[in-house]
Amino acid sequence: MSYKEFSYYYDYFNYTADYDLVAEKIHSWASAEKLDGKIACDLGCGTGELAIRLSEKGWDVIAVDCSEEMLDVFMDKREELGYYNILILNQDITKLDMYGTVDLFTCTFDTVNHLDGADSVQKLFDKVSLFMHPDGVFIFDMNTEYKHRNILGNNTFNFDEEEADCIWQNTLDEANKRTKVSINIKDKQSGEEYSEAFYECFYSLEAIEGMLKKAGLKICRIVDGENYSEINEESQRYLFMVKKEQ
Ligand SMILES: C[S@@+](CC[C@H](N)C(=O)[O-])C[C@H]1O[C@@H](n2cnc3c(N)ncnc32)[C@H](O)[C@@H]1O
Repeated sequence: MSYKEFSYYYDYFNYTADYDLVAEKIHSWASAEKLDGKIACDLGCGTGELAIRLSEKGWDVIAVDCSEEMLDVFMDKREELGYYNILILNQDITKLDMYGTVDLFTCTFDTVNHLDGADSVQKLFDKVSLFMHPDGVFIFDMNTEYKHRNILGNNTFNFDEEEADCIWQNTLDEANKRTKVSINIKDKQSGEEYSEAFYECFYSLEAIEGMLKKAGLKICRIVDGENYSEINEESQRYLFMVKKEQ
C-alpha cells in the first residue's frame, strides 16, 4: 500500500531509524558474498535513505517504489545531493520489471508487511527470484507476529514534534493477520490536517520460509532486525538474507 500525504512527513517522524547501521549491515553481508560495488535494487525505497547510503558505498543503485509522493521526496533529495546515478523507478514491486539481473536486492523497514497479503508477498519473492543474479542475495526485513500482537496491538502513539503532530492508531485484525494503521497528521505551521490508513500484514516464520521456498529461495542468515543478535520469541523484526536454491 503506497503512502500519500504522509510521504512528506515520513523522514520528519522517522528520525529514530538508523539507516547508517542498516546500510552498513547490508553492505557487510553482501561484501562477504563478494558482491560489493555491483548492482543493487532497493524495493519499496520510500524517500531513498537506504538507496542513497548504498550508492555512497559504491553500489550502482536502482530504487523502486509505487508511491509518487515518496519518490517525489526522494527525487528532491537526489537533486540536492547530486546522486544522479541512482535510477528511480515508479513500479509496484509485486509486478517488478527489470532490464537485467540484480546482484543485491534489498527491502527494508516493513515494506514486505505493507503488501496486501500472502499472494502479494509470493509475487514479490517470485519477481526477486526471477531478476536476481544466480550468485546474488536478497536482504529484507519484516515486522514479526510478536510485534503486531504485543507492541503495535490496538495501541495509539502520539508523536508531538515542533512542526507537526502525528497520531498513529493501530487496530489489530487477528482474523486476517493484519494491523490497520490510521495516521492523522496536523501541520502546526500551515494548520492543515491529513489522514490516511493502510494495513500491515504479519506472517509466521514458517509461512515466510514456505513462500521463499516456493520462489526457489532459501534463508542463509536471519537475525533480530533491531539489535542484530539471535532471533528470539520477542524479536520485533527479523532481518533475512536469502539466496537462490542451487
Ligand atoms: C515503511 S515504508 C519503507 C520505505 C523505505 N524502505 C525505508 O526503509 O524507509 C514502505 C514503502 O513501501 C512502499 N510500497 C508499499 N507497497 C508497495 C508496492 N506494492 N510496490 C512498491 N512500493 C510499495 C510504500 O510506498 C513505502 O514507500
